[in-house]
Amino acid sequence: MDWGLKNRLSSIIKPHNNRALMLAVDHGYFLGPTEKLENPKKVIAPLLKHCDSLMLTRGVQRTSVPAETDTPMVLRVSGGSSIIGDDLSQEDITVSIQDAIRLNASALAMSIFVGSKYEYQTVVNLGKLVSEAEQYGIPVLAVTAVGKELGKDARYLSLACRMAAEQGAHIVKTYYCENFEKVVESCPVPIIVAGGKKIPERDALQLTYNAVKAGAVGVDMGRNIWQSDHPVAMIRATRAIIHQNANVDQAFKLYKKLAAEDSNRKQKSKGKKPNQNKSKGKKPNQNKSKGKKPNQNKSKGKKPNQNKSKGKKPNQNKSNKPQNKPQPKNN
Ligand code: 5RP
Repeated sequence: MDWGLKNRLSSIIKPHNNRALMLAVDHGYFLGPTEKLENPKKVIAPLLKHCDSLMLTRGVQRTSVPAETDTPMVLRVSGGSSIIGDDLSQEDITVSIQDAIRLNASALAMSIFVGSKYEYQTVVNLGKLVSEAEQYGIPVLAVTAVGKELGKDARYLSLACRMAAEQGAHIVKTYYCENFEKVVESCPVPIIVAGGKKIPERDALQLTYNAVKAGAVGVDMGRNIWQSDHPVAMIRATRAIIHQNANVDQAFKLYKKLAAEDSNRKQKSKGKKPNQNKSKGKKPNQNKSKGKKPNQNKSKGKKPNQNKSKGKKPNQNKSNKPQNKPQPKNN
């Protein structure tokens, strides 16, 4: 293995314990403004120092991560289909190697959809990406995506992980399942586990513990961290399992302690500004324009609920967020 590739890999999987804590914030590439990741900059800021690496798209990296960070970036370079489109598996490589280098990527990430209509395209793309990335000493992380129609058992995941490794992927990201040891045993490169959809914090910590115990190097977790009410507490508890060999009870105890501190802090900062009004002496609900009756409308003659933009139906949403769309297939 070339020095550069080894060096980049060792910034993602820590060589002293062969463990990795990756924070995934790439969901928007097919889900748009995912719940609680609507503003990636705000989500990433407090978590950045607690993860070993950050998995994201180039758009989020450029707009939402300070370039001064020393956290390694795992850059997603595949995409092309959305949650509301015909087929999520129709992905291609969307980022050039030159741009990945400009972004100082420590690894490139892409999904393969084994068993789907676009299996061939995504697996061939993985092989090509590995060939290209290796020329520059950049490792590739292959994500074995799962969908409704694809399995999530040890048999399917072993097939998908092994195929990714055979194409030359340096790390494989997959889902935890029963008999996960079998998936790990038959994959010759390190396996990192995705968190999946949000579950109670203790269960997510249990998943992390089980995955590591079964041989995974760690987790590449997203929703179970930033969809928690206490993301920093959650990432620190997850970290305790991965890097301090904490068991689930110890990690959950840490989560609860940090979560309580977080709640107290939020409560205190709320308490400091109880409806604090800038202009002193004003009574609550005091209206700027004297003499106006409540609900008095500026533009005379307008009927209540009359909408500025003609033709708009009530509750029509400005942003076309697919919030009520079907559940993401790859959970
Ligand atoms: C989607 C991805 C996500 O990064 C992955 O699903 C990890 O996030 P989560 O823990 O929320 O599942 O690669 O294809």
